[in-house]
Amino acid sequence: MQKDNSHPLEDSEKIVKSIDPCTLVIFGATGDLTARKLIPAIYNLGKERHLPTNFACVGVARREKSHDDFRNDMEENIDKFSRTKPIDKGFWSNFKERLFYHQSQFDSDEGYESLKIFLSEIDSKHATGGNRIFYLSVQPKFFPLIIEKLKKHGLIYNPSDEKWSRVIIEKPFGKDLDSAKELQNQIQEHISEEQTYRIDHYLGKETVQNILVFRFANSIFESIWNYKHIEHVQITVAEDIGVENRGEFFEEEGLTRDIIQNHMMQLLSIIAMEPPVDLSEKGVRDEKVKVLQSVRPFTEDDFKNSVVRGQYKGGFVNGEKVKPYREEDEVSDKSNIETFTAIRFFIDNWRWDGVPFYIRGGKRLPKKVTEIAVIFKDSPGVLFQHKDNKNEPNVLAIRIQPDEGISMKINCKVPGPSSPIQPVKMDFRYGAYFGKAPPEAYERLILECINGDSTLFARSDEVLQSWKIFTPILEYWEANSPKDFPNYESGTWGPKSADELIKKDNRSWRKL
Ligand code: BG6
Repeated sequence: MQKDNSHPLEDSEKIVKSIDPCTLVIFGATGDLTARKLIPAIYNLGKERHLPTNFACVGVARREKSHDDFRNDMEENIDKFSRTKPIDKGFWSNFKERLFYHQSQFDSDEGYESLKIFLSEIDSKHATGGNRIFYLSVQPKFFPLIIEKLKKHGLIYNPSDEKWSRVIIEKPFGKDLDSAKELQNQIQEHISEEQTYRIDHYLGKETVQNILVFRFANSIFESIWNYKHIEHVQITVAEDIGVENRGEFFEEEGLTRDIIQNHMMQLLSIIAMEPPVDLSEKGVRDEKVKVLQSVRPFTEDDFKNSVVRGQYKGGFVNGEKVKPYREEDEVSDKSNIETFTAIRFFIDNWRWDGVPFYIRGGKRLPKKVTEIAVIFKDSPGVLFQHKDNKNEPNVLAIRIQPDEGISMKINCKVPGPSSPIQPVKMDFRYGAYFGKAPPEAYERLILECINGDSTLFARSDEVLQSWKIFTPILEYWEANSPKDFPNYESGTWGPKSADELIKKDNRSWRKL
């Protein structure tokens, strides 16, 4: 694709926004997410001059550590996990002076009092203006406790105060509809919806945000984006990794809670939503909720015919031998937890009447790939036919990661006198076109929170609506143990039943 040299992105990068000073306080500062994602994200934001000039970050955790220990650990993590390498020593030596550590138990009143004093000192020294983001990267059982204590000790302000405080809550937000409602009730006693930022990092991915631009800034797609032209939609979130060192977490959650109920439903709602009235937080999120409200509820029959679960056996992934799920650390050797899920949804609204949405997600599949494919209806075969007497349908494939891009499969005449038809791909690749890798999702989301924009965060009704869809499935599974677990070899595309799910509709999964 040819590069248009006057691309507007280049201009928008020059726009310097005024952004409030603030302190980011990370609870769970010695955890994996802080090391792998959060600290590298703020390092890159700082390096690329997106953070406010007056910014500080305080890690809170239960372990004893000095500020310098914390800084040294974070330097190592940036070296290992940052998308930009090697670490920029010049920038880091200044930046690390704004990084602090505060040791506290999450239930300790003294800990919150001393945190309050410490944050005031930072405000005086670094002119951070009293504005605060509390990032809860902790086990979900601590969410209500920390929020209650923050409020009790005056660390969370009233929404009408001049200074602001915001709370970012990691997933999972509840385990089912009842627990999510309970959690919501507990937190809303202390913080308002506008102070609550429920993170779903898929919303921070550039390629996911681009779906909105693709759909609503290109006039050619809207008129064909419906049941009249679209035959079906497939969404895949495949990972080659297993559960790594998260066996205990996974035994509690399973793949459906970990990836499908949140990340994949975000993809589904963005691909299926109506054009929002505007791009405000309300405009976009209202439309996403409507999609979830229109998902056809599952009946007893659907639990058997439209939903599939799987668990990996041992096998080979990327040429390496890997162990079965049941032999992973902290996993029961009789575990019935799913590491693969495939579901057929229908969205019962005017636009999507009768169009199936097939989604599949799993661990220990052959490769890491996230893709949304829109398969269009066949053209009438009266004039041109492909060699099996069929035309290949047009397919629009939105590649979320890796090799971010969009491709369109079209039928084309092979040069020469005999005129056979062959499907070819028109391809757009972000990397090749824009010449740089997109920023990490967490960078964008932290920045949006500093800016006070929650459009890319999940609203409470959105989360609850999604649980409403999944709770009956999870309850059915709980009550009916799988008979065939483990049922797919690592390094394959899931259990046979996943193929059967789509095959009985005379369709097949895309080969990715
Ligand atoms: C997380 C899940 O939310 O998303 C992980 O807990 C999963 O199990 C990860 O591996 C996938 O994220 P990404 O950005 O690598 O697709």
